[in-house]
Amino acid sequence: MSMTADELDKRQAIIGACRRMNALGINQGTSGNISVRHADGLLVTPTSVPYDAMTLDQIVFMAMDGSHAPTQKPSSEWRFHLDILKARPDVHAVVHAHPTYCTILAIMGREIPPVHYMIAAAGGDSIRCAPYATFGTAELSEHAVRALEGRLACLLDHHGMIAVGKSLDKAMWLAVEVETLARQYHGCLQLGEPPLLSSAEIERVRQRMSGYGMSEG
Ligand code: 13P
Repeated sequence: MSMTADELDKRQAIIGACRRMNALGINQGTSGNISVRHADGLLVTPTSVPYDAMTLDQIVFMAMDGSHAPTQKPSSEWRFHLDILKARPDVHAVVHAHPTYCTILAIMGREIPPVHYMIAAAGGDSIRCAPYATFGTAELSEHAVRALEGRLACLLDHHGMIAVGKSLDKAMWLAVEVETLARQYHGCLQLGEPPLLSSAEIERVRQRMSGYGMSEG
C-alpha cells in the first residue's frame, strides 16, 4: 500500500490515539473508534481489531459517499464518523469511546449541566445526551449529529460518548476532559443536585478560553 507521508502520519496517530484511549482509562477493549479527515474523505479505524494488533494498512480510507476498498472493514460506527465530518467543516477528528462515567450518565439519560467551567471547552453550557438508537445505524448517526450542534462533545444514551475537534490531539484532550466532567457531576449527584454556573458565565469562560490556548476545536 503506497501512501503519502501525511497519510502515514495520520494512520500512525490514529493507532496511537486508540492505544492511549485505553491506557488513559476512557475506553476498554475495542469499544471505541476514531476518524480523521483526509483528502476528500476520512481515515477510520477498522472494526473489532484490538488496538495492540491494529496495523497501519487496516485503517480504512473512506470516501465521503461511504465507499471504501472492498477488502477493508471500517468501524461499525463509520456512519456517524462520516456524517459528523460532513455536517461539520470545523471538525477534523472524531473520537468515540465508552468511558465509564459518561456512560453511567448516558444510561440515566442525563446530559452534563454546567457544574464546572471546563464544560465551556465542549462549546457551550451543556453536553447533551443523544437519544438511544442501535449502534451503527443511520438513526444513531442523526441523533449524534443533532446532539453535537454547536458543541464539540455529546453523550450517547445507553452507549458512550463522542468528542470532536480541529485535530486528533484536541479531540482526545476533550474526550478526557468530558469524562472528568462526567465523573465530577456523578460525584456531586451523590451529595444532591449540584448548583450550576449560569449560561452567561459559561459564555464568558468561552471567550477567555479562546485567548488562553485551550480554545475549542
Ligand atoms: P467497532 O469495533 O466496529 O469500531 O465498534 C465498537 C463499538 O463499540 C461501536 O459502538
